[in-house]
Amino acid sequence: MVSSNRDQFTSKIGFILAAAGSAIGLGAIWKFPYTVGTNGGSVFILLFILCTLLIGLPILMSEFLIGRRSQADAVSAFKKEAPGKPWFLAGWLGVIVSALILSFYGVVGGWILSYLFRAVTFQLNGGSEEHYGELFSSLIANPWEVIFAQAMFMFITIFIVQSGIKGGIERAGKWMMPALFIFFILLAIRSLTLDGAMEGVKFMFVPDWSYLNMETLLNALGLAFFSLSVGVGAMITYASYLPKTETITSSAFNVAWMNIAISILAGLVIFPAVFALGYSPAQGPGLVFIILPAVFEQIPMGSVLIIIFFILLLFATLTSSISLLEITVSVFVKDNYEKRRSRAWIVGLVIFLAGIPSALSFGVWSNIFIMDKSIFDFIDYITANVGMPIGALAFSLFVAYYYKTNVTKAELNLPNAGYWLWRTIVCVIAPIAIITISLYNLFA
Ligand code: PFF
Repeated sequence: MVSSNRDQFTSKIGFILAAAGSAIGLGAIWKFPYTVGTNGGSVFILLFILCTLLIGLPILMSEFLIGRRSQADAVSAFKKEAPGKPWFLAGWLGVIVSALILSFYGVVGGWILSYLFRAVTFQLNGGSEEHYGELFSSLIANPWEVIFAQAMFMFITIFIVQSGIKGGIERAGKWMMPALFIFFILLAIRSLTLDGAMEGVKFMFVPDWSYLNMETLLNALGLAFFSLSVGVGAMITYASYLPKTETITSSAFNVAWMNIAISILAGLVIFPAVFALGYSPAQGPGLVFIILPAVFEQIPMGSVLIIIFFILLLFATLTSSISLLEITVSVFVKDNYEKRRSRAWIVGLVIFLAGIPSALSFGVWSNIFIMDKSIFDFIDYITANVGMPIGALAFSLFVAYYYKTNVTKAELNLPNAGYWLWRTIVCVIAPIAIITISLYNLFA
């Protein structure tokens, strides 16, 4: 896929896997459960699904369209398609926001490596319920371990991106995604059959309308963008490696439904267990790390299965982190293919360093707050709830008002009604929704 010169995806399935690999990651498996937990459950899930399908998906199609047409990185795409106009600034915004996302993504990637190490050395079993909470707290407060693990995760990410991600990741994606699905289904069955599990199901599906407000809506929108990798140019970058003959609409649908399915499955693993085992759903970022070992504890051969699980989770996380790094690297490499290696290392190193404050914000720097949020939460918040919506808005306005109807019609190849639905959303509904939700939260 991405190699030392600008070649293309060899197959449509390769592209879908790469795009789905970028989308499905910590967003669905880590962030979805914990934000559902802190936003009151069911209503948030409903809003997340609506935001994904009604706003995220049409914008995802737009990013695919821009990338495939321009065959260029997220900044050059706009320079090529709209020469002399300031649209390329939207590409730069994407570069900055994606780098910020990767800065804290690398921290959580590091936690996964630390957990994998503990799983392999059989430290993740045989503990009491409190034990797993304490384990997570002691890990994230240990500066050396988190930074070392973050460095290892970033090292692997850079290593894959610098040498081109064609062979290994594409092949791995083919078995990883189905394996992850199967694992989640098995875990969900176990979790759902625990005593008291129904409380968790109710939490996910019986609406508590008191949570229906603009703040929940903004969080749902932010998560939908984050989860679909929309609004920073990741999908422009990936679609730029797609031959012009491939259709993009079905790829976008596939990415969206798979992402929703994995998110709901992750919820069905976590919440029944949360309630059955007496945890609080509003734990924040540690939720998944605390609950999962407790669920595996309830499964025969759990101590071995959890190793496989964390390996799969690591893969899912890496296929997202490489897409985050690829955005910036492709912008700096442009046509100097021989510079790919050095650029990847430099960009990756800078992002790693930028992530250290987030890594420390659970321990030695936990007393530093920006707008009432820890450094980690603050970067997470401004990227998902401010940066991505602005980027998504710019991309949708660009496609809606810069491209002629006959161009977008031919590119998307949709039946008439579908095409006009898409067009109405990107021209009117998505921009109004993004602006209203953002402004309301800014000033209310
Ligand atoms: N979609 C990824 C996830 O859910 O983990 C995160 C992500 C990847 C966001 C790539 C943005 C992006 F450009």
